Amino acid sequence: MEKMINSAYTPPLDLIRRPRRNRQSAAIRDLVRENRVHAADLIQPIFVKDGSGAPEPVGSMPGIERVGLKQLLAEVTQLATLGIRAVALFPSIDPALKDARGKYAVSEKNWFFGVIRKLKAEVPDILVVADVALDPYTTHGHDGVLDSAGDVANDETVHILTHYATQLAAAGTDIVAPSDMMDGRIGAIRDELDREGFTQTSILAYAVKFASAYYGPFRDAVGSSKGKGVPTLDKRTYQLDPANLREALLEARLDEDQGADILMVKPAGLYLDVISAVKAGTLLPVAAYQVSGEYAQIHAAAKAGWLDLEKARDESLLAIKRAGGDIILTYFARDVARSLIKAG
Ligand code: PBG
Repeated sequence: MEKMINSAYTPPLDLIRRPRRNRQSAAIRDLVRENRVHAADLIQPIFVKDGSGAPEPVGSMPGIERVGLKQLLAEVTQLATLGIRAVALFPSIDPALKDARGKYAVSEKNWFFGVIRKLKAEVPDILVVADVALDPYTTHGHDGVLDSAGDVANDETVHILTHYATQLAAAGTDIVAPSDMMDGRIGAIRDELDREGFTQTSILAYAVKFASAYYGPFRDAVGSSKGKGVPTLDKRTYQLDPANLREALLEARLDEDQGADILMVKPAGLYLDVISAVKAGTLLPVAAYQVSGEYAQIHAAAKAGWLDLEKARDESLLAIKRAGGDIILTYFARDVARSLIKAG
């Protein structure tokens, strides 16, 4: 015979543990929350262009623009009032100034150094992070110079990058961030910085940077992509294979041994396992870069009405924190800082 279900009375289960007790109100959820994202954890990446013309929107990144000096100063000043402590600057270089060797990078005339100088003079408390790689300056969009076989020449590239890093430091950059994935560049840059007297300039190493499809919108923004939107550049001889965790840990260890101050994993959202493994293997702060494609993806789905923008954004950042990211580079930094203030 079938058992009758009497919905009028259900005797309580004999449970010692009822995890839902800790979730029953906003107050207790706040009390037991294990991870939080603070404005001070976030670094806002900003695309900078020469001159003071009107800002240019980046099509694949809603809300993101390439800005000239005047707007940059205004934006950074505002970020500081929101509690953001650092910005990562990426120059968008006029194609007429690019060549196969990216020579403009280390030219005394490079306008980017002047922008950093003025920014540090105007908003000294904000930390300036500057990428160290040649891709904004090369016609082919690779992060270094090419050898006769068309591959990126490691040691020659490192040599150029050490000069570029020193010039960035001289302009007032607080943190240089080598993003090129050449072998030995952290040690070479540390040596050169120290030799030139920049012992207090930090190195944020893009220690674990995967050859990812998610850099497409960024390459639009700095103009390092040939095809619009879709990354046509193949950087697999220097960026990591997305399949490899052990190799990622090896890269992290090498950069730590060579003197990196902070280790970064990039992209972030698809590599949470890597973030947590890197975190477990180091005592250095760990950063994670929520890249342009991660940002674009959330925006696109929200625009279609398929995801709630703010909830998806906040969840994506919280996941990175939970995985072990102490510092997060995210294009959402300003919006998040604003909504944290609003929430009180
Ligand atoms: C270039 C660089 C890239 C990013 C940061 N620095 C792109 C690339 O390697 O092609 C990507 C950032 C993003 O997608 O938001 N060295």
